[in-house]
Parts: sequence; C-alpha cells; structure tokens
Amino acid sequence: MEKTLLIIKPGAIQRELIGEIITRFERKGLQLCGIKMIQLDDKILSEHYAHLSHLPFFGRIKRSMMACPVIVCCWAGADAVNVVRNMTGKTNGREAVAGTIRGDFSVSVQENIVHSSDSVENAKTELARFFRPDEILHFTTNNNNFIYAEDEQISNV
Ligand code: TYD
Repeated sequence: MEKTLLIIKPGAIQRELIGEIITRFERKGLQLCGIKMIQLDDKILSEHYAHLSHLPFFGRIKRSMMACPVIVCCWAGADAVNVVRNMTGKTNGREAVAGTIRGDFSVSVQENIVHSSDSVENAKTELARFFRPDEILHFTTNNNNFIYAEDEQISNV
C-alpha cells in the first residue's frame, strides 16, 4: 500500500489535538504503520522546508516547528498521499474547507496543525527523512476486505 508522512505540528500538540487528528485517519480506513514523538531541529527543518528557504519568513516557520516536540506518523492505504493531503486541506487555515483538519482547527497559514506530503515522490523522501527503515512496520490487518474491494488492495510498498 502507498505510504505518506503526516506531522502533527507543535500547535496541535499544545492545543491537545493529537487524539482527534489520529482518530480521523483511523476512521477513514488508513493504517498507522509508524509513529513517534520527536523534537525537530534547524538542520532537519532546513531540509524539509528547503523549497521555502528563499522566503523572508523561513526563520519563523522553522521556529514554529521547533516550539515543542511533534509527532511524525506514517499512514498507509490505497492512494494514501492524496487521501491524507485532501483530509489536511489548503495551507491557509482560513481558506481550508470545513471538514478538513486545517479547515476545522486552524485560522492561520503558519499555525495550520499538520504537515502532509504533497506527492508520492516527496512522501518517500520525507518518510526516509524522519523514520529509519525499521521504524516503518509492514503488517496485515484483518479488516481489509471491509475497507477495500479485492481489486483495490494493491501493494505498492
Ligand atoms: P507549503 O509547503 O507551501 O504548504 P503545505 O504545508 O500546505 O504543503 O508551506 C509549508 C509551511 O510553511 C506551511 O504549512 C505553513 C508555512 N507557510 C507560511 O507560514 N506562510 C506562507 O506564506 C507559506 C507558503 C507557508
């Protein structure tokens, strides 16, 4: 199954939204196959947000992400990257559609609760950035026949 990275950002930790966020993905039918709490540092954030390094607010984005520990998760499922990204919502919480995580819990661009990978290629790079290979667990759950049709149960690990 396709895998993607979700980061529960410091704002969500401070606002006690961890359970709410994890529950949404579990209820959707995605499989949690890696999770840990870590303190991010400038080095890993400079890599992770390298595409924003030319912007004047690069420093404040990194400071916000280092404000307290975060939770990094690996979610697996058919088209997991798109499914998680759609549930995340638009970057700006004020524009994100209600029903999405950012739409329901955020009124900010920076303080937008979660990060999720935006492409299959980036998901692979980002998972490798935050998890060692042995921290991603590959296991079968017994409810797959009730979550997917037979021909949807593709394996693209
Ligand atoms: P980006 O990768 O563009 O968005 P997304 O998280 O939706 O993939 O930006 C990374 C984070 O940087 C974003 O979640 C919040 C912050 N950010 C700002 O604070 N201001 C901005 O103008 C942008 C574009 C991003």
